Amino acid sequence: MKYEQTLFLADNWTDYALLDSGDGFKLERFGNQRIIRPDPQAFWRPHKPVSDWKADAHFDAKAGDDERGQWRKLNPKAPDTWPMEWNGLKFNARRTPFRHLGLFQEHSVHWAFAVDQIRKAPYSTKVLNLFGYTGMMSLACAQAGAEVVHLDASPKSNGFGKEHQEMSGLQDRTIRWIADDAMKFVSRENRRGNKYDAIVLDPPKFGRGTKNETWRFEEDLPGLLDEVANLLVDKPLFVILTAYAVRLSHIALAQALGDRLEPFGGRIEMGEMAIPEQKSGRMLPTAICARWRAN
Ligand SMILES: C[S@@+](CC[C@H](N)C(=O)[O-])C[C@H]1O[C@@H](n2cnc3c(N)ncnc32)[C@H](O)[C@@H]1O
Repeated sequence: MKYEQTLFLADNWTDYALLDSGDGFKLERFGNQRIIRPDPQAFWRPHKPVSDWKADAHFDAKAGDDERGQWRKLNPKAPDTWPMEWNGLKFNARRTPFRHLGLFQEHSVHWAFAVDQIRKAPYSTKVLNLFGYTGMMSLACAQAGAEVVHLDASPKSNGFGKEHQEMSGLQDRTIRWIADDAMKFVSRENRRGNKYDAIVLDPPKFGRGTKNETWRFEEDLPGLLDEVANLLVDKPLFVILTAYAVRLSHIALAQALGDRLEPFGGRIEMGEMAIPEQKSGRMLPTAICARWRAN
């Protein structure tokens, strides 16, 4: 297996921008809404003091909780949901209790890669999107012409995904929105002999399946990767594995994936995912990833 170091920069947005960052916070634009959120990685100096940032809403983190907290509207007229677009995909952004806005904008670097791979493939492709959540990857793959199986433990997020499929005019594309436990689903798919040309995995550090099954990244990823490798067709197209907030290097991630994909040859790009800050040349790191492709 060939390994290459890469920086995965999500620089393909018009409806999103990182405007400023520093002192533990970031100021971002999602469509026409300016948002302030805490970000412990941003411990450099902001361009303007955080107290001078102008925004529509601010997320106050709950002490001792990485994800949860409360939104404070700074603009009383700020809408609860508002439209956004990426590459022709239309969807609604919303302030969720989990700090995010209903999308993980740094993943656009992988959406573009998947779209490119699917369009270039000389055959029709079937994609499995595990831990698919907001469904943006599923919509991007479907728009590029793939048949998609989208899986997440959260039926609510599948509902938003379906809504965005309609908004994007992709009703005629095949996306199966499945609420299930990822591990159970992949073992069942293997027993049924189903195969995929491409698989995307974005597992959380800790999570729960639909029947309260626990998911722990470091403990469960090796078993999941074994199942994933078995689900691939003889000549697969790509596999994307991303990780947030884990005590692992992207090298470890890449080599765990590389082990399983050795029989397919190909190469793995690995590295940090980041968002470029507007006009400054700085970047905000967000996650690590390993991305396999056949050539
Ligand atoms: C990091 S998020 C994925 C974000 C996604 N890549 C996106 O762009 O929207 C992790 C997701 O894993 C799901 N999840 C957690 N434990 C799970 C499990 N055991 N089986 C299936 N999904 C699970 C959560 O519901 C959550 O949506």
